[in-house]
Amino acid sequence: MKLIITSNKKEAVKKAVSIISELIKKKPNAVLGLATGKTMIPLYKKLVKLYKNKKIDFSKIRTFNLDEYAGLKPTDKESYHYYMNKYFFNKININKSNTHFPSSNGKKYEQEIKKVKGIDLCLLGIGQNAHIAFNEPGSSFRSTTRKIKLTKQTRKINSKFFLSAKEVPRYAYTMGIKTIMNSKKIILLAFGKKKSDAITNSIKAKITEEVPASILRKHKDAIFIIDKKSSKGL
Ligand code: GLP
Repeated sequence: MKLIITSNKKEAVKKAVSIISELIKKKPNAVLGLATGKTMIPLYKKLVKLYKNKKIDFSKIRTFNLDEYAGLKPTDKESYHYYMNKYFFNKININKSNTHFPSSNGKKYEQEIKKVKGIDLCLLGIGQNAHIAFNEPGSSFRSTTRKIKLTKQTRKINSKFFLSAKEVPRYAYTMGIKTIMNSKKIILLAFGKKKSDAITNSIKAKITEEVPASILRKHKDAIFIIDKKSSKGL
């Protein structure tokens, strides 16, 4: 695992975008694992800008999103489908039939990933409890795509995107930890002091299923690109 600490969020996004665009230049039909959340918004904005300036072509890429709420329709504004269309897919030349989201059929999702010979680059955010995708603490390191019960804390934190905490679905579909770890390359982004405990525990404490992101230390090509604020506990 490699750690890059940047002076601010903008620099971190710049670094991640340059790795993504290098990959797409080298492999135009690259398979990307995609994350949502507040962290990823500036990254998608920058990728869209590159596309508008004709510096990148997304026409052949294949994508697999990390997670989705159970019970929300793709047209629901709080769904990750909606988020991806709004911030990324609707603004670039991606072929929507090459985009995928996890659903109740986890086995099918795993097969679809296998069919394209795995994920080349998986983007990750991190929850305040160190979850990756929606793999909450206690998730098995051998887990694959499945339905998961969200913790009270995650529902409360994610209520920022909903009218209230009550409206946040209790369950979600998530790529598993094993699925993520099978990606050829991983980039984790974290910004702000709210993420500093999760980062400290993931990088310094014991590798344990209680800290899902800690397993990334065992990946041979995982890069944590984080800002100074989130690194304050290191
Ligand atoms: C959410 C998502 C994760 C995301 C994380 C961080 O619950 N399921 O995939 O990486 O939490 O979100 P944010 O970037 O809004 O802090």
